[in-house]
Amino acid sequence: MNVVENAKVTVVGAGSVGTSLAYATLIRGAASEVALYDIAREKVEAEVLDLAHGTQFTGASVSGGADLAVVEGSHVVVITAGAKQQPGQTRLDLAGTNVRILENLLPNLLERAPDAIYVLVTNPVDVMTVAAQRISGLPANRIFGSGTVLDTSRLRWLLAKRAGVSTSSVHAAIVGEHGDTEFALWSQAGIGPVPILDWRGGEPFTPAELEQITDEVRNAAYTVIKGKGATNYAIGLAGARIVEAIVNDERAVLPVSTVLSGIRGLDGIALSLPSIVGGEGAFPIAEAPMSDEEATLLERSADAIRGSLASLGF
Ligand code: LAC
Repeated sequence: MNVVENAKVTVVGAGSVGTSLAYATLIRGAASEVALYDIAREKVEAEVLDLAHGTQFTGASVSGGADLAVVEGSHVVVITAGAKQQPGQTRLDLAGTNVRILENLLPNLLERAPDAIYVLVTNPVDVMTVAAQRISGLPANRIFGSGTVLDTSRLRWLLAKRAGVSTSSVHAAIVGEHGDTEFALWSQAGIGPVPILDWRGGEPFTPAELEQITDEVRNAAYTVIKGKGATNYAIGLAGARIVEAIVNDERAVLPVSTVLSGIRGLDGIALSLPSIVGGEGAFPIAEAPMSDEEATLLERSADAIRGSLASLGF
């Protein structure tokens, strides 16, 4: 295990997602130093101050500001900067604007933190991951996206609540696009050692109910955005979990989004598959089993990402 001692994690973007992710990283003790960077000087300085005021309770240090020097020495850089989904917008609608921001930002970050692991959170995260990997030229394991880690957490919460069990006993994953074509790997899902459709610890699950649960996960962000204007807490926690796996070299299996090279015939696009996440970044598990129907759904996700990339000239 190559645990990073005195790990510095820099969060780029001091909006609601970036500040929630920074806060979650501090609370989980996932880094010794958390830095926050944004071009909005007054805003980022206030966020840094507000986070720093609580460091007595976290034991970590907090730094940041509007100067790119903030990024220097980072072991992990998490990119959350960009326009956020408005009510009625899909994540893919943000592609053009946010890729342009990335084209300007990423070279400057790499100049100051050339050896860091880069995690994209900005949406559409799969498209952003492809763009970032192309812009940076980094190997795919060192620049990847938060993908469907958040969606998987939503799925496990719903299943645990419905089955009346601990979330930690629910083994299920959302894969594919972090977006409207995402889907659950029901063929591999279970509660404890029990396959999901064999669950008898209470009311059995039916295929129709599983589809309804998938829909609830797929539409979760729209529901939250409709009510409060944005999602931030759960994506912040999902991002902090990814940071933790990197910094502690956990080799945890998480459904992050990586640029695929030949897995299931997919090349040059980023999608979430179960991946091993540790100190060297993320490595998708090539032989992640799935049913024929799920393989078809993965291809549908791939088409969605291909279409968005093509519209951007990638
Ligand atoms: C969501 C955003 C992070 O799913 O895409 O809440």
